[in-house]
Amino acid sequence: MKGELLYEGKAKQVFQAESNNDQLVLSYKNDATAFNGEKKAVFSGKGKYNNLISARVFDYLREKGIPSHFVRSLNDSEQLVEKTTIIPVEIVVRNLAAGSITRRLGIEEKTVFTPPLVELFYKQDELGDPLINDEHAMMLADVEQVELKQIKAMALEVNKHLQAFFENINLKLADFKLEFGRNKAGDIILSDEVSPDTCRLWDKDSGAKMDKDVFREDLGDLLQVYNTILQRLEAAV
Ligand code: TMP
Ligand code: ASP
Repeated sequence: MKGELLYEGKAKQVFQAESNNDQLVLSYKNDATAFNGEKKAVFSGKGKYNNLISARVFDYLREKGIPSHFVRSLNDSEQLVEKTTIIPVEIVVRNLAAGSITRRLGIEEKTVFTPPLVELFYKQDELGDPLINDEHAMMLADVEQVELKQIKAMALEVNKHLQAFFENINLKLADFKLEFGRNKAGDIILSDEVSPDTCRLWDKDSGAKMDKDVFREDLGDLLQVYNTILQRLEAAV
């Protein structure tokens, strides 16, 4: 199934799919990193949770008509996806204030954003993924204004669906990060992963953080939290 290793990132390995030149196998690693890789740890089983949770999210988004790279899960830690050229801009959507925006703009955690905020970050580890505006994105990421408009509209549409998806398992979606890529046909589609590594999720009853902040802020057992999310998804109707 897997061919050559094409790329290795902090959280995933990317292999050529053997059966189809236009597809890739994403293999989710057990590594957790935060603060641009400054903090690192290995959690045996983490790859499985992110793979299976992300697969469920992309299945749901497909049902809602969101075009993405996701083809299907292959096993516990691997999934088949359509090959895309990633646009090196991370799109963050914020419903509730948390993380970098609280520090950057002095906004209190949990402040509600109505309408949700959309932010762009340049995907460039050496620079620490800096916040950028549309003009920077057009200059740095080979993307046009009309495409940025389309990407932001898709991100807000994804936000609506993800809010409902997580609400159904008693989680509030504070914020999340998306990546988009261009496929062979030239269409811009949702790529990468959507998992508790890339979202902030707060339990609706207790307010407990149920995402990678558990690792970032040393709040408890990351695997147990990710396992709870997967169990809630498996039990949900
Ligand atoms: P931030 O508050 O650190 O800017 O993060 C906003 C959201 O984006 C949060 O849900 C975590 C996610 N995120 C990633 O998925 N990858 C990253 O490299 C960063 C910095 C944030
Ligand atoms: N994903 C980034 C890292 O690995 C930052 C983060 O998620 O906090 O360092």
